[in-house]
Amino acid sequence: MKLTLAIRANKNIFISEINTKPNYRFMNLIKFTFRGNLLFWILNLVSLISVAKTEVINPVCEYHHNPIGIDVKVPRLSWQIQSEEKNVMQTAYEIRTALSVNDLSKMNRQLWNSGKVVSDQSVNIEYSGSAAESMQRIWWQVRIWDQDNKVSKWSEPAFWETGILNSEDWNAKWITLPDEPESKNSLPVQYYRNEFDVAKTVKSARLYITSRGLYQVYLNGDKVGDQLFTPGWTSYKNRIQYQTYDVTPLLGSKNTIAAKVGEGWYRGFIGWGGQRNYYGDKLALLAQLKIEYTDGTSETIVTDGNWKVSTGPIVKSDIYNGEDYDANLELKGWEKNGFNDAAWKKGNEMDLTTDDLVAPQGEPVRAVEELKAIEQITTPKGEMVFDMGQNMVGWARVKMQGKKGDQVQIKFAEVLDKEGNFYTENLRSARCTDTYIFAEDGTVVYEPSFTFHGFRFVQFIGLEKAPALEDVTGVVIHSDMPSTGSFSCSNELINQLQHNIRWGQKGNFLDVPTDCPQRDERLGWTGDAQAFSMTAGFNFEVAPFYTKWMKDVALDQLENGMIPNVIPDVLNGQGGATGWADVVAIIPWTVYKIYGDTRILEESYPAIQKWIGFMNERAGDDHLWTGDYHFGDWLAFATTSSDYPGATTEKDLIATAYFYYTTILAAKMAAILDRPDDQSKYEMLASQIKKAFDNEFVTPNGRLVSHTQTAYVLALSFGLMPDGLEKAAANYFADDVKKFGHLTTGFLGTPLLCHTLSAIGRDDLAYMLLNRTEYPSWLYPVTQGATTIWERWDGQKPDGTFQDVGMNSFNHYAYGAIGEWLYSHVAGIKLDENNPGYKHFFLAPNPGGELYFVDASFESMYGTIVSDWREEKGIFVYNVEVPANSTATVILPAAKLEEVEMDSALKSKAVQYNDDVKVDLGSGTYSFSYPYLHK
Ligand code: BGC
Repeated sequence: MKLTLAIRANKNIFISEINTKPNYRFMNLIKFTFRGNLLFWILNLVSLISVAKTEVINPVCEYHHNPIGIDVKVPRLSWQIQSEEKNVMQTAYEIRTALSVNDLSKMNRQLWNSGKVVSDQSVNIEYSGSAAESMQRIWWQVRIWDQDNKVSKWSEPAFWETGILNSEDWNAKWITLPDEPESKNSLPVQYYRNEFDVAKTVKSARLYITSRGLYQVYLNGDKVGDQLFTPGWTSYKNRIQYQTYDVTPLLGSKNTIAAKVGEGWYRGFIGWGGQRNYYGDKLALLAQLKIEYTDGTSETIVTDGNWKVSTGPIVKSDIYNGEDYDANLELKGWEKNGFNDAAWKKGNEMDLTTDDLVAPQGEPVRAVEELKAIEQITTPKGEMVFDMGQNMVGWARVKMQGKKGDQVQIKFAEVLDKEGNFYTENLRSARCTDTYIFAEDGTVVYEPSFTFHGFRFVQFIGLEKAPALEDVTGVVIHSDMPSTGSFSCSNELINQLQHNIRWGQKGNFLDVPTDCPQRDERLGWTGDAQAFSMTAGFNFEVAPFYTKWMKDVALDQLENGMIPNVIPDVLNGQGGATGWADVVAIIPWTVYKIYGDTRILEESYPAIQKWIGFMNERAGDDHLWTGDYHFGDWLAFATTSSDYPGATTEKDLIATAYFYYTTILAAKMAAILDRPDDQSKYEMLASQIKKAFDNEFVTPNGRLVSHTQTAYVLALSFGLMPDGLEKAAANYFADDVKKFGHLTTGFLGTPLLCHTLSAIGRDDLAYMLLNRTEYPSWLYPVTQGATTIWERWDGQKPDGTFQDVGMNSFNHYAYGAIGEWLYSHVAGIKLDENNPGYKHFFLAPNPGGELYFVDASFESMYGTIVSDWREEKGIFVYNVEVPANSTATVILPAAKLEEVEMDSALKSKAVQYNDDVKVDLGSGTYSFSYPYLHK
């Protein structure tokens, strides 16, 4: 049944076509109508109409909702369109901006008005008003015209606020604790404080603050903001982030601003061999508080030599090793007014620049959730251990009882050994221990400040009475990226795999993408990051996170174009590994595909060019990159089983393949960035590399000289096979998978393995690999109780023994890269590279592997995409959702056009497409069903 409503309002005619079939709201309305009175009827009708109207929602600036303290020169604005109508497209928009929310609607008070711009672009529109000044808030609103030229209401007002845009606007001085002894070991956390009065009425106050080391800041005893591990980790040699906080509500007439600064990445242990002081040996604080009064005047409080500094209860604090806290040294009330700091020293002003300070772009790290211990265990060795039920990253907040002088050690482990004892050998030299010394008898609640641990199990040493389960809280921290993806299906093991992939991401997205969160490493390994990036972009919104990190990739690049293996680089420039360094092109390309973001391409492009220059130089005239050291297909199956030589992929082949792939990406980017000369240059180079690859590594029969799954995966998915030999290579590849009956791939082959099998029409083999539960496979760790992705296929063996302790993390996300195939192939949410950012996409599910349902969704920049399929009693039912201002092409697998039930308006557009049915959709929700023969 269809109902067409024509309502005259605001001089526009709104025609809303409402499909009442799934509209329960309307059904209720009818029911109530007959029971209710006229007023009730009218109210309901009005609410129905307002739902049917097209609204602009979720206005964001640089991906953030009302960001403050940003320094992006030309901020980009995005919004979503919500409507209960179908086929909604934006045909034009108008943006208006003003310095106050009330001025938005006053033409003569507006800062900038775009006018009506004929465009269907609703994502990342560049602000083209005059450049903002430092510390300025700009309000904005947008309205759109739809396909029928109906104009929407203005969106809710939103704003962005700039931070300190010019170095001269920093009046604060860097200060530090004077006379600190030199030490090869961790030094105490530093405490800073300053009291000041506020005599007038405050209109607004902003705190701009950063540190060399990690800081936490307090105003009148309250912690300012909920951000953790500030100022974040960047290539400190080039840039340090500062944060901006709105502290208006925290100010009184008498005030104390106080901060503690720990060693963190700046000066603590980082890398190997006891390396400390990588960026410098002095911690320091820089803070500037700008107070604006209602009388129009303002005042600025800054760090300088009048601030007081001391050490306190945190006698040691280190990311790898944990925190030592001595309650006897507590400074009761240090962060509040009236504390006697006579014994504290005056801060030492340092002659350090503020030129390298930048505003953050990624989401801050926060305590995102809390877990309670699920079980207390006394191990065979008699250890007092608590199980958090989940391998997590953060720390334990514990309520514990002790006596004066008691020293309690809180230790962390990911797994128990085969006897069930607490196992920490895989943490290598990381001590991962928090120590608390009681100052008096009683109960305390303790949690550390500047360290994090990767753990599932918590051990207490030195505690007489075990805490209750609810007194051991796991504080889960990570970069607080909005969750964007969900995937669940009829196989519980695969659901647990998806859970593990998400937790692997949470645990390793801590301001930078890390390899692992527990041992003495936790570094931004570039290979791991690129391998996992597409999956990461399904689970969470990663554009801001990667935008920030890619800048450090470019900044840490060496003069000769080499990209260090870890970013931020703390390994003194070691780099240039194939498949690792290529992150410089792969992640920007990923962000472009998922968000349609071209700025990250522009910003990364010079570094990509330099990296290609480096490879070209290493390869020389023959275009084969041979002879250099690489990690290769890291941790492939063969590295754990030497009797499988057929699983080791030659590194020269991998290096030449990535040389080609990155060059192809550069050519595509050059086209997007409108650099036709570069485009032809890279296309030409790519064809030379391909020729060289084919001559060197491909036999005339299409067999690769490295006859391995990874070699075939790279050659086929990068498009390296000579024309006419793809089929032969595909057969060799499929035969190899069949011969082994399992995967043999490592970090480079695994992300593309199932994709490549699907692309050659072998979903049967891809599903066989997915469903396999014996080692090596994705589900083997699941059967062993894993709650995160393991670094190795066999981190813990079926007999409970462990892999090489030298490298055995239980929270490494790289193998979780299968997630992308689950979302895009199994569920069928597939982006269209030619219409990036899901402006157009495919809904193309691929049932198989005994699954009988899959429910998946993805929050795109345009809104929610849903792809839910189920197969029941020979009927395939497919429910989808396409957000407004985007379109999708549905491909119904193994369908006959005449048998498919769908909206009659769609049926005429649908076509038979080989064995499938294909139909183009505008926005809206749709359902399809048809008889289906189980594959
Ligand atoms: C890390 C990795 C990394 C690798 C490179 C390891 O120690 O944990 O995941 O990619 O080194 O060799």
